[in-house]
Amino acid sequence: MPNELTPDTKRLVDNQRNLLEVMPEMMLLVNGGRGIEYMNAQAKRFFERLERAAAESAADKPPLRPDDFLPCVEQSIAGGTIGSGQALQINLNGMQFEYTLAPFHGYKGDRLYWLSLRDVTQQNKHIEELSHFHNSIESILTYKIKELKESERVRKSLTNELNILKEHLKKKPEAGTMIGSSKALTDLRDMIFQVAKTDATILITGESGTGKELVANMIRESSNRNEKPFLKINCNTINDSLLESDLFGYEKGAFTGAASQRKGKFEVVDGGTIFLDEIGDITPRMQAAMLRVLQEGEIIRVGGNTPVKVDVRIIAATNVDLTAAVQKGAFRLDLFYRLNIINISIPPLRQRKEDIVDLTTFFVRKYRNIYKKEITFLPQSLIDYLLSHDWPGNVRELENVIQRAVLMAKGNAITENEIIFDSMHPNGQPIALPEVSYMDRLAGNSLKDMLAELEKEIINHSLEKNKGNVAQTADELKIGKTAFYDKLKRYGISAKGLK
Ligand SMILES: Nc1ncnc2c1ncn2[C@@H]1O[C@H](COP(=O)(O)OP(=O)(O)OP(=O)(O)O)[C@@H](O)[C@H]1O
Ligand SMILES: [Mg+2]
Repeated sequence: MPNELTPDTKRLVDNQRNLLEVMPEMMLLVNGGRGIEYMNAQAKRFFERLERAAAESAADKPPLRPDDFLPCVEQSIAGGTIGSGQALQINLNGMQFEYTLAPFHGYKGDRLYWLSLRDVTQQNKHIEELSHFHNSIESILTYKIKELKESERVRKSLTNELNILKEHLKKKPEAGTMIGSSKALTDLRDMIFQVAKTDATILITGESGTGKELVANMIRESSNRNEKPFLKINCNTINDSLLESDLFGYEKGAFTGAASQRKGKFEVVDGGTIFLDEIGDITPRMQAAMLRVLQEGEIIRVGGNTPVKVDVRIIAATNVDLTAAVQKGAFRLDLFYRLNIINISIPPLRQRKEDIVDLTTFFVRKYRNIYKKEITFLPQSLIDYLLSHDWPGNVRELENVIQRAVLMAKGNAITENEIIFDSMHPNGQPIALPEVSYMDRLAGNSLKDMLAELEKEIINHSLEKNKGNVAQTADELKIGKTAFYDKLKRYGISAKGLK
C-alpha cells in the first residue's frame, strides 16, 4: 500500500468505511489465501455474541468463527458465482445463513472478496412455522367443508322426504300401554281388557322381547286386584328348592336352618297377583305343586302336610313352546291345561310390521326426552330400512336400536347411518347402553304409581339395612307397626326373607 494517500483517495476510503460500519448486513473482506482481513461493526458484534453465548453455556461446543466461512467462499469462487448477486444458503452450527460474494480489487493483486452475510435462522423458522400453520388450517378447513357438504347432502335428501315423526306426534300414547295399531295388536289389547277383570289364570306366550311382561303388567293394572300386591317371579333364576320354599313357605324344621315356620309368597300376596315368568323352566316337582294351587286353590308348606287356602291370581309367561314340551314329556299336560285356560299369544314383530312406525316414533319420543336431543325428523327412508329388517329380538331389539340411534344422532334427524341392528354387533353382543336414571325410568307413570314405586324401594332398602327387623325399620321410618305391615302386604314384601 502506498504510504501517502491523496486527499481524494482518502476521502473515498473514509466514505466506504463509514458506509460499511452502518450497514445492517455483516460484511467481511475475505482474502482467499490468508483468511478474513476485515469485518464491519455488525459482523464483529455477531461473532462476539456467539463467543459470549458459548462461554456462558455449559456445553463445550466451540462457537462459530468467521474463518468457518472460508470453505464455502472457496467453493463459490470455484463455482464462479462471484459478483452475480445470487444469494446462496449455508447451514453452519445449526444456524442458517444467506450470503453473497463480490470481488474486491486490492493493491497487490491478492484474491480478495466481499462476503455479505445474513443470519436467516429465525426468519426461516418463522416461515416454517407459518407453513405448518397453513397446512393445519387447510386440513381443518377441508374436513369442515366435507362435513358441511355431507350435512347439506343429508338436508337436501331429507327435504324430499316425508317426516314420519311429525305425523305421529299428534297422538300421545300413555306410558305402559301397548303401542301398535296392527290388527294383531288391536285384538290383543281388546283381549287384555276383556280377560283382566276375571280371575282366570292366563298364559302369555311369545318370542323373547315381544312384550309378555308388559302384557302381564297391563292385565294386573286393569284387574280388580290392582290395589293388591303384585309379585313377579322369574322361575329360571331361582333354584328349585329355593323357589319352592320361597313360593310356598316352610314349616319349622323342614330343613336345616328352618328355625321357625315361614309363610311363602302365595300366602303373603293373598288377594293379589303372581306373575310367573319363564314358567316353561320349572321342574316336575314344582309343576306338581303348582298344579295343586291351580286345581285346589291351596298350597302345602315345605315340610308340612296341612293344605292352606290361598287367593292368588296366576299370570304365567313363557317363550318356549309348551305344547312341544308336553309332547316331549318335559311339561305336565294337566298343568298346561290349567295354565292355558286363557292364552294370550303375542305375535313376533316381523308378523306385524305395521306396528314398527308407531313403535319407532314412541321410542324416539321417549329417548329424545331422556337424552335431551332435538330429534324432529324421521325420514320415510329410515322407516323403509327398519321395515326391511326381520327383528329377531322383537320390540326389545327395536327399542335398543332406537335408543342407540337417538344417542348417536348428530342433527335433528335419525338416518340409516345411526341404525345398528343387534345382529350387526360383533359376536352378537349388543353394545352396552348408558343407564337410564331413576326419574327417567318412572317418567310417564301417574304420580300415584311413581310414589308407590318409590315407597316400595325405600321400604325394601330400609328392611335390608335392618336385616329384616320390622319393628326397627318401622321405628326408623317413623310409621306405626300396623300401617307398616299393611304396606308390606300391599307391596308383597317379605321381611323374613331378609333375616
Ligand atoms: N307394544 C309395545 N309397546 C311399547 N313397548 C313395548 C311393546 N312391546 C314390548 N315393549 C317394550 O319392549 C321391551 C321388552 O318387552 P318385555 O320385557 O315385556 O318382553 P318379553 O316378552 O317379556 O321378553 P323376554 O321373553 O325376553 O322376557 C320392554 O321395554 C317393553 O316395554
Ligand atoms: Mg319377560
